[in-house]
Order: sequence, then structure tokens, then C-alpha cells
Amino acid sequence: MKPNSSNLKHPAGHDTEIQEYGTVVDRPISLDHKVRLASVASLNQILADTMTLRDMYKKHHWQVSGPTFYQLHLLFDKHYGEQAELVDLLAERVQTLGGVAIAMAPDVAETTRIARPPRGREDVTMQVFRLLQAHEIIVEDAHEAARAAAANGDDGTNDVLVSDVIRRNELQVWFVSEHIAGAGIADRDEETARSAAAVQV
Ligand SMILES: [Fe+2]
Repeated sequence: MKPNSSNLKHPAGHDTEIQEYGTVVDRPISLDHKVRLASVASLNQILADTMTLRDMYKKHHWQVSGPTFYQLHLLFDKHYGEQAELVDLLAERVQTLGGVAIAMAPDVAETTRIARPPRGREDVTMQVFRLLQAHEIIVEDAHEAARAAAANGDDGTNDVLVSDVIRRNELQVWFVSEHIAGAGIADRDEETARSAAAVQV
């Protein structure tokens, strides 16, 4: 890294951090400290994963290739924008609950459970596979966090997770997965489902 050549002086001499990450301050919103702490922890995990998926959509928007280049170039950017909206919703829900939203790339990289893609360019099938895998991690986590929030009486968090996160991710999975229907991955899933159904009958 290049040394910082700025003449701007760091405001040293006092502690500048006014709230530690992982803590919640009190808010008069009729939710216990313990409940807000639990919701903030789940929301920050989903936030880190959502930021990663948002950035993966931009990577794929730039690097997409092949005969479906133009439609995927547009679709990936649309989903990028929608994930960016979810990032803001999740972060502001964390702050609403008195928490500290995870924000910067190095912290997000340490926290996310979505696998790091290579810097290089991957083919469309792999791009789509990575997106679907990331969506599934988020949706699975959001279901669990939504149920916990409802059981704890945190209806606001439950609503954000169900009405915004889960439903938007489900919709995006539909649009993305149709691009590989007939190309391998989706077919294999359908075959598994069909053989499972045949066993049940
Ligand atoms: Fe663009």
C-alpha cells in the first residue's frame, strides 16, 4: 500500500469510537436488550452476506460473457441495485435496534459465509451457480432469523426479513435459475426432486 501523503492530522488524543461493534444502546421501542442483541447479531450476518452478494452481482455484470451477454448484463445490474436497497434496509434495521451495522469491505470479508470467487473471469454457468449458492445461504439464514425474531416479539425485524429479504431473494433466484434451466444445474435438481417424488409414490 502507498503511504498516506495527506497532511490531514488524525484526531488523536481521545477515544473516537463512541459505540463498540456487537453492542446495542437502549431505545424506547419496547424490546428487551437481549432481544435486540440477538436480532442485531443475525441481521449483521445477513447484512455481510447481502453486501457480498450485491458485489458479486456487479462483478458478474461486468464480466459476463457468451450469447446471453446483454440480457444477463442488464439482469445482474438490476439485481445489484435491489441488493443494494436490501443492504440499506438491513443496516438501518440494525441501527434502529440500537446496534452497529457492519460496513467496511475488510470486516464484511471476515464475516461473510459466501465463498470468495477468483479475481478472474468465470463462465456464465459458474457465475449463475455462485449467485444461486449465495442466495440460498441468505434465504436459509433469513428464515431462521425471521422465526427467532417472531418468537422473541421483534415483529419489525421479522417483517424486514420476510417481506423484503426473503421475498426479494426468492424472486431473484427465479430469474437467475431460469438461465440455466436445460444447462445442467437446475435439471439435476429437478431430477433429484422427481426421483424423490417417485420413491414416495
Ligand atoms: Fe454498468
